[in-house]
Amino acid sequence: MSNIVIVGTQWGDEGKGKIVDLLAEYADVVVRFQGGNNAGHTMVVEGEQFISHLVPSGILQKKTCLIGNGVVVDPSVLVEELDKLKNKGIDTGPNLLKISEKAHVIMPYHKQIDLAREKMKGDQKIGTTGRGIGPCYEDKASRRGIRFVELIDAEVFKETVHAVLEEKNFYLKHYLSAEPLDPEPIVQQYQGYAERLAPHVVNISIVMNQAVKAGKQILFEGAQGTHLDIDHGTYPFVTSSNTVSGNACCGAGIGPKEITGVIGIVKAYTTRVGRGPFPTELFDEIGDTIQKKGAEFGATTGRKRRCGWLDTVLLQNAVRLNGLTGLVITKLDVLDGLESLKICTGYEYNGEIIDDFPANLKILGACKPVFETLPGWPEDISGLRKLENLPKNARRYLDRIEELLETPIDIVSVGPGREETIIVNHPFT
Ligand code: GDP
Ligand code: IMO
Ligand code: MG
Repeated sequence: MSNIVIVGTQWGDEGKGKIVDLLAEYADVVVRFQGGNNAGHTMVVEGEQFISHLVPSGILQKKTCLIGNGVVVDPSVLVEELDKLKNKGIDTGPNLLKISEKAHVIMPYHKQIDLAREKMKGDQKIGTTGRGIGPCYEDKASRRGIRFVELIDAEVFKETVHAVLEEKNFYLKHYLSAEPLDPEPIVQQYQGYAERLAPHVVNISIVMNQAVKAGKQILFEGAQGTHLDIDHGTYPFVTSSNTVSGNACCGAGIGPKEITGVIGIVKAYTTRVGRGPFPTELFDEIGDTIQKKGAEFGATTGRKRRCGWLDTVLLQNAVRLNGLTGLVITKLDVLDGLESLKICTGYEYNGEIIDDFPANLKILGACKPVFETLPGWPEDISGLRKLENLPKNARRYLDRIEELLETPIDIVSVGPGREETIIVNHPFT
């Protein structure tokens, strides 16, 4: 029996959605355990693209999809997503899509505070997605949050919104110079969401533990990436949740002994959206070529993604922090046609080589990547389905990644489509 956690190893957008959708065929349950609609996970099935922000990427495979207690949920976005899927004939009924009663609810003031703070910070902003993620997790930690269990209790919800808004409005008006909010329209609007979503609200820990007992397989779908983790990422240029595999247990309500594997999704190069350090960032034509060929635009905000070479200092950090048992290399096809490729194998700081990822952003900012150069390949590899058919230099690139990360490559992705995939070792068999 396999219960596998999928995480991003870089700064998000590694292709987690594609891989979760692909592997969901072999799972019975797919669960999101952190993040919110800052995530944008793309699946491409029979040429049609689906972008999911909150609904787990197992929905197209008709699997039980759970939104864990560790997720922060904007009900307006969830309802919209459910409607879109329903219109495409995809079942998202309460039998398949379940929300943890303990998941926190993103409120209009969370979005307003997120946006107003970023505006106020000007050049110093984090570059958040503006979806209210940070302010919602802040309220969770400071015990002023509203969970689904409170959302669906009309009396408690109304009382809480009125009480919380007293403080929020003071902060909005007097500190952020933003418009205060009237509680009643919010209560009305959210009552509509509550009625719509109530049938989906359950204790998902019980659902998952029953599944485990029945010998079913679970796929844990991480959002963001290891270096956006609140503890282990490039703080403060991070998101507000733990994105590493350890949080799969906490954010879904299951014990660590049930996890049998942790797969890290590695984009064949590196990208980042929003601000923050990025040692291997490219500012030249090659960076532009990768950005265009890889269609590197944010799936949530549409922002252009910054692009750079593969960074194995970053990736070794991800291997250790997540306890990776396997790797999936995505977007290898984007590197087709480049004459040579660079892999960062260390950082130079003050004339010395360091091979660990510095926590101090001043040091990280001053680090110069040390590169190894490998030959590229001219062929289009998107039609290939077997590792042995890849051009020699593409195999060499993959072999070097495996060697540097001391972790086996289980899957290689050569296109956005579900079938554009080379399976090396199937994680579920
Ligand atoms: P996620 O957030 O990790 O799920 O990744 P995103 O969906 O935000 O971004 C990944 C993008 O790359 C999406 O547009 C995918 O359709 C696309 N994609 C995924 N795998 C591949 C691949 O192997 N090759 C190419 N060319 N595109 C891919
Ligand atoms: P997926 O799951 C890439 C980034 C934002 C910003 C920082 C904080 O699709 O990989 P937040 O709104 O979370 O407070 O923003 O984190 N960010 C992501 N970058 N992919 C994501 O998700 C991201 N979710 C948040 O750009 O830099
Ligand atoms: Mg994404």
